[in-house]
Amino acid sequence: MAILHNSTKLDLVLCTWLRLLLQICWEVFVVPAKVVVGVQWGDEGKGKIIDILASRAQVVVRSQGGNNAGHTVESEGETYKLQLIPSGVLYPNTLCLLGSGVVIDPVHILKEIDGLESRGISCDNLRIDPRAHLIMPWHIALDGLSEKMRGNSKIGTTKKGIGPCYMDKAERSGLRIYDLVHPDVFMEKMKVTGEIKNRLLTDFYKEQPLDLDAIAKQYLECGKRLKKYVADVSVLAYNAIKEGKEVLFEGAQGTLLDIDVGTYPYVTSSHPISGGVCIGSGIGPTLINEVYGAAKAYTTRVGEGPFPTELFDEMGDKIRNLGNEFGTVTGRPRRCGWFDSVIMRHSVRVNGLTAIALNKVDTLSNLGTLKVCVAYKKADGTIIRDFPATIDELAECQPVYEEIEGFEGDLTNCKSYDDLPETCKRYIEKLEKICECPIKMVGVGPSRDQNLER
Ligand code: GDP
Ligand code: IMO
Ligand code: MG
Repeated sequence: MAILHNSTKLDLVLCTWLRLLLQICWEVFVVPAKVVVGVQWGDEGKGKIIDILASRAQVVVRSQGGNNAGHTVESEGETYKLQLIPSGVLYPNTLCLLGSGVVIDPVHILKEIDGLESRGISCDNLRIDPRAHLIMPWHIALDGLSEKMRGNSKIGTTKKGIGPCYMDKAERSGLRIYDLVHPDVFMEKMKVTGEIKNRLLTDFYKEQPLDLDAIAKQYLECGKRLKKYVADVSVLAYNAIKEGKEVLFEGAQGTLLDIDVGTYPYVTSSHPISGGVCIGSGIGPTLINEVYGAAKAYTTRVGEGPFPTELFDEMGDKIRNLGNEFGTVTGRPRRCGWFDSVIMRHSVRVNGLTAIALNKVDTLSNLGTLKVCVAYKKADGTIIRDFPATIDELAECQPVYEEIEGFEGDLTNCKSYDDLPETCKRYIEKLEKICECPIKMVGVGPSRDQNLER
């Protein structure tokens, strides 16, 4: 009996070692394709995480969204605010791809390229998929007008034309990068669509029509400059993965802004979740083996819509000021609140997260006792742990908080996880437990070297 017992124990030990060995082999020999997604309402510090991971990658790909995104990267004392160009651009040899799911304002992207190149950052390694849709001036006009018409129930969009552009894509009337670099095709399609949009602007919104000739001239000029960047992103990304290169997929926006699993209708018009990467860059799900979720150590939101842990008191103002929580794209003050693990568990599930990168832990220092939302309480008193499917159900939920001892001191100079105060480590370990996902990176400042790997 004792012999049997001992051999079972030995089996268990061997099994554990074998599993560990297999895991090491996988990590060393199988070059991973990693995805970084935002797991709250955007602005979680995705740009910083991509920049850090990109030091080991050869390719960085954006799959959705447009210049509604604003990704901040601090590198060697310089701050870059990237909207469309992938955050890998700061590395001269990294291939930066914009997949078919990205919506592109040609005037904007050229400004972004010129801005980077004037600072000595080359964009020669940029490639844009010919299938990517174009944001046209009427999309921008209609974004503003439809928001105005919604009045009090406005979404609070960035007014960059994102929603109207994806509407035309789904309606199958959109213009694409391919069209832009083929002037005859562009002129034919743009004339038909432009006239319809002008009817909408004049007859429905009672606005002035847009000057279609001027638009055509401006866009075709952009097309001439953008032509050299056009390439099939699906093929490039697939070949890079097959050749064993490390490929990183840079999410934009955040899980709660996803058009399906977010707080609809207060969302963006694309799929910021990990599944969106496959659609928007044309690669299959079996090619992805790691999904990082970028999160803040608290929660923020810009724009309208429900936010259960939002703080309306002095603490909310403190977090906003200490964390400099003002929108990268629009400059709007971000709404701030406590960390919400109901949202996080939703994100772990819908993205299949394998790790969390927890940013802005330094912002919470010296704030006294901290609160963490562990569940929601419905109007009838029922406690729920899963994020509700609709905002009507969410509206009747109140956060259930647990208080956690706060931490003190300046964390921005910490160089390793062990340098953090014990109370801070306890906060992080508590979050890890209730999120049900390992926290592998801890951010204590905006720059590359203020990231503690665990
Ligand atoms: P993204 O859209 O997810 O890339 O995030 P944004 O760039 O819009 O907003 C994140 C902000 O937080 C930027 O100003 C970053 O420089 C900053 N940031 C990122 N990580 C940290 C961190 O760990 N600590 C502090 N204090 N700031 C951070
Ligand atoms: P990054 O990539 C935060 C929000 C807008 C609005 C809603 C719809 O920097 O995290 P849209 O213009 O997309 O139609 O607006 O989505 N939003 C973001 N909020 N970060 C972003 O991007 C966002 N992109 C869009 O504020 O509430
Ligand atoms: Mg942002």
